[in-house]
Amino acid sequence: MQKSLRLGAFLLISVLAVSCDSSPVEDPGEDEGPYPSLSRRATFPVGVALQARHLNIPAYTSVLEHAFNSITAEYEMKARTIWQGPGRYNWTAPDRLVSYAEGQDMRVHGHALVWHSSTPDFIQNFSGTDEEFEGLVRDYITAVVSRYKGRIASWDVVNEAFADGSGLIRNSPFRRYMGTDFVTRCFEYARAADPDLLLFYNDYGTIWDQRKREAMFSMIDDFLARGVPIDGIGLQMHISHDWPSMTQMRQTVDGIVERGLRVHISELDIKINRHGDLEAPTDERLESQKRRVQDIVSMFRQIPEHLQHGITFWGLRDPDSWLINFEGRPEWALLFDENYDPKPAYFGFLEAL
Ligand code: G3I
Repeated sequence: MQKSLRLGAFLLISVLAVSCDSSPVEDPGEDEGPYPSLSRRATFPVGVALQARHLNIPAYTSVLEHAFNSITAEYEMKARTIWQGPGRYNWTAPDRLVSYAEGQDMRVHGHALVWHSSTPDFIQNFSGTDEEFEGLVRDYITAVVSRYKGRIASWDVVNEAFADGSGLIRNSPFRRYMGTDFVTRCFEYARAADPDLLLFYNDYGTIWDQRKREAMFSMIDDFLARGVPIDGIGLQMHISHDWPSMTQMRQTVDGIVERGLRVHISELDIKINRHGDLEAPTDERLESQKRRVQDIVSMFRQIPEHLQHGITFWGLRDPDSWLINFEGRPEWALLFDENYDPKPAYFGFLEAL
């Protein structure tokens, strides 16, 4: 899509945003377009999870390039997409996303090398020896990290290793064939492939699930004591406008910071319809969502700057959210509405900067 057409699309959106946006449009800088840019105003990366198909939509990329400076692949950098078989990989979508980001001077946060929910069938149904399995995993991590060395600055090495409610290592092929210590070896393989890569552990529930939270901190302390390489923690933060409490969030964030690790709010979305009582967003719930974003950004800014890995939203527009299918009901959990207009929550983010 040539630049002039995309510029036209952006200008059209700009006019619509100014004319029909219900929130007061803060005075953007003269070169900032119709509303201020989050990434220009924030002192930390502000990201969004997307799919390669979104890069074909000028209205999408115009907003993405205006407001954000970091991307995470929503699913196309996971093993189920890349890993076709032993030593066989499909790089098409990851290559496109990384090349796009480089062209836009955006950061790419890699998600996710090892995740029990996104493994290819030949791994899910593996029947060889422990050594053969571990060799495959080692070769996969090495291949992916090496391909994007110097282009992807950070990876979620392992995602969601702990079971809900127990804090035990989930029953997965990785635990069955590599043992409960598989997380350690995955981090060591990633480090061996790229000495400069920032290695993250990513999970949900480590704010409200006490046993999972304790298990994560116990693993981190063990890593730090043994010299196992780890640089940061991803808090997914699939939350609601009224749950969990900011106190619970701060406790987990403080625990990460105390251990000298980077904090990535890695998959932020903020439900306003978790009880299914809405057929359309109300001003009251949108304002509550805005206040929650303000509180989260204010909390994040209190982290020492060198440990602020960034805030990434799990989607751009409300209709893009995984939640709608997952929850099976209407939801408006993100910063932009279906018309690519910024919602009150977007301005809440700005006001907290
Ligand atoms: O785009 C293809 C489509 O072309 C194809 O016809 C269809 C059927 O195969 O699949 C479509 O891709 C799907 C993709 O979402 C886009 O909708 C994948 O199958 C599906 O697996 C993928 O689901 C993603 C899921 O992770 C599993 O990778 C969700 O988008 C994504 O939001 C979700 O994200 C996870 C995080 O990685 C980890 N934390 C939880 C979060 C929500 O589950």
